[in-house]
Amino acid sequence: MNAKFVCKGDVVFSIDQEHMQSIEQGFVVCEDGICMGAYDELPAEYAQYPVVDCGKNLIFPGMTDLHVHAPQYTFRGLGMDCELLEWLQTYTFPEENKYRDMDYAREAYSYFAEDLKRGFTTRAVIFATIHNEATVELMDQLEETGLITYVGRVNMDRNGGSGLQEESAGSSLLGTRRWLEAVQGRYRNTMPILTPRFIPTCSDELMLGLGALAKEKSLRIQSHLSENPAEIAWVRELVPAADCYANAYELFGHMGSEELPTIMAHCVYSDAREMEILKAHGVYVAHCPDSNLNICSGIAPVRKLLDAGIHVGLGTDVAGGSSLNMVRTMLTTLQVSKMYHTLLERDCAPLTFEETFYLATMGGGQYFGKVGSFRKGYEFDAVVADDSLMKSTRHLTPRERAERMIYNDADCMIRKKFVAGRQVL
Ligand code: GUN
Ligand code: FE
Repeated sequence: MNAKFVCKGDVVFSIDQEHMQSIEQGFVVCEDGICMGAYDELPAEYAQYPVVDCGKNLIFPGMTDLHVHAPQYTFRGLGMDCELLEWLQTYTFPEENKYRDMDYAREAYSYFAEDLKRGFTTRAVIFATIHNEATVELMDQLEETGLITYVGRVNMDRNGGSGLQEESAGSSLLGTRRWLEAVQGRYRNTMPILTPRFIPTCSDELMLGLGALAKEKSLRIQSHLSENPAEIAWVRELVPAADCYANAYELFGHMGSEELPTIMAHCVYSDAREMEILKAHGVYVAHCPDSNLNICSGIAPVRKLLDAGIHVGLGTDVAGGSSLNMVRTMLTTLQVSKMYHTLLERDCAPLTFEETFYLATMGGGQYFGKVGSFRKGYEFDAVVADDSLMKSTRHLTPRERAERMIYNDADCMIRKKFVAGRQVL
């Protein structure tokens, strides 16, 4: 693919949290992986660039899935009849234990990687399992897709049950170091991220060791925070010195910084005190509404997180969430925010379509740098989608068609996808 080109079609993207730009038969310019802007008329300086004519297809920025469990893809949509802690013990840990078997891992991860590549996602931050070999296999396969990802080999040295538990803090840390050595310099698009599953499965010694390792090697961290009431009560017992769950991570050195931001999935029950900690460290909250519905976790206060100036993106959280489809996650994001407003707090306004589109593209994309918009200087991540099967007597703008797609994406087909200027589909 030429390093300089122009995509022509019906363009729609976020400019910021509240505003979108919509250009019918517009031009998006890419130079060496970077977007040089979106235009209704092609500036003369780009007139010589080859044009990728996308016809009447929609062209919008790729989406970032900030939180997804690759090994859980095998049981998506199955076993959704209990809450978090029972769900982990009954379905999740026994499944993840299978990834000690490389034949199983290779096949299962090939289905995950293939489907992630086919979807709306251009960037993702992914949990693997405690197994080094299978995690490297997943990273090898993801590298092949052309998507840009962070992948974490999971740490857990307590409360794993079903054999899914490392022997000790020391062996978990040693395994992590060996995994880091194995993947160092191996990839262009696939980065390692430290991944303590959550406090109930990681001893104090392991947590402290991982916090020190993150500092030593300038690594990012991802984990889960304040997802479920029983989980939160358990953490209160496990770390009595902490004044809240977020503070427990903070005490172990896991909350990161603006330069090396931590991702915390869920934050359904984060109150003002937790938000203060999230804000102070520049944490990214991965809002995972499908998962929060499926395993009866609750509704995260996304409006309040945004008002507090906290970074927020969206996550599918497969298999708590049952689909890798980020457009579906956008719909659930809108719908649960309406229920938060209706049932929990009338004063808390629902998210708008613009805000939701922003969360899926720029909100999560920011974790990767200038990603998730067609503003000049952003990396060129784009999805070209054909919605021509959704016929209407109305003439719709690209922005309206994007809104309609969020509410009903079944008849929307992805035709092309670009990641940092490289065509992957
Ligand atoms: N908390 C700890 N592990 C998990 C997991 O695998 N999924 C979800 N949704 N929450 C978790
Ligand atoms: Fe999760």
